[in-house]
Amino acid sequence: MKQNLTLLPTRRGVLGSSLAAGAVVTLAACGGGDKSASALPSGTGTAYDATTLSALPVSGTASVDINGHNYLLYRPDEGTVLAYTSVCTHQGCKVGTGDSKNFICPCHGSEYSKLDGSVTQGPAPKALTRYATSIEGDKVKIYL
Ligand code: FES
Repeated sequence: MKQNLTLLPTRRGVLGSSLAAGAVVTLAACGGGDKSASALPSGTGTAYDATTLSALPVSGTASVDINGHNYLLYRPDEGTVLAYTSVCTHQGCKVGTGDSKNFICPCHGSEYSKLDGSVTQGPAPKALTRYATSIEGDKVKIYL
């Protein structure tokens, strides 16, 4: 004897599938990145000469090459120099020195705060990586 068996979804099964689909949509909307600044790292690693204070006035920005990699520097006040990678977190273009407040990527227009590397305008999904710096006399050192 032959039987026809049809499997119908239960209410619980349909509800569970809907919740799972909703979770996927929610995760996709978040983009999976953190656009806020990461913590400023401590001065560990090797210290490299990045520039001099005399070459980087207050409110000034510089783009420097060290060991084949490019870094962005910003001096917000007399005694502070901040350092970031210039590799855009969107698709890896070289981020430029930008305007008075933001570093700007020329490829798709992402902008990053000069004060902490956080994303101020997408499509960049994450903040720029930060590096520790120190000032020794006129020399600005970056820890890589
Ligand atoms: S690679 Fe920088 S915004 Fe796209």
